[in-house]
Amino acid sequence: MKIVIINGPNLNMLGIREPDKYGSGTYDELVEKIRNHCMQNKIQAEFYQSNHEGDLVDRIQQAYYDKADGIVINPGAYTHTSIALLDALKSVSIPTAEVHISDVARREDFRQVSYIRQACCLTVSGKGFDGYIEAVDYLTKMISGRENENKNK
Ligand code: DQA
Repeated sequence: MKIVIINGPNLNMLGIREPDKYGSGTYDELVEKIRNHCMQNKIQAEFYQSNHEGDLVDRIQQAYYDKADGIVINPGAYTHTSIALLDALKSVSIPTAEVHISDVARREDFRQVSYIRQACCLTVSGKGFDGYIEAVDYLTKMISGRENENKNK
């Protein structure tokens, strides 16, 4: 089971940026938390963060060639603007979960649109770093359920 965890712009600034909204944990601490959880559950986790839209598109496409089983993505502000990320996720059709650390539903109007949501099987919002763990668990359950279904056919 291989899951790619992709973070978009300004998520490298976790711990520094708006701690009232995103908490005091750093990006490295986020990676460590997810990595430990994945190790305990025998999930292969790969991490990627970029501030650049095209690089995020490239990483999503790479997940296809690497035969990743699932994607967890927090596209940061590109959530609300990027058709390119939506198209990339649709292109690879890998089960994907959308994560937001803050509760976007309770924030500004311009954050109420998510272009990528229609390519995602789950959205987790407002649960801090734990949201990523919930997303990993949801995907792994879903994917292993599918594998078992196929075995029984
Ligand atoms: C975010 C919410 C976005 O609106 C914002 O632009 C981010 C982070 C979150 O994790 O809560 O950069 O995706």
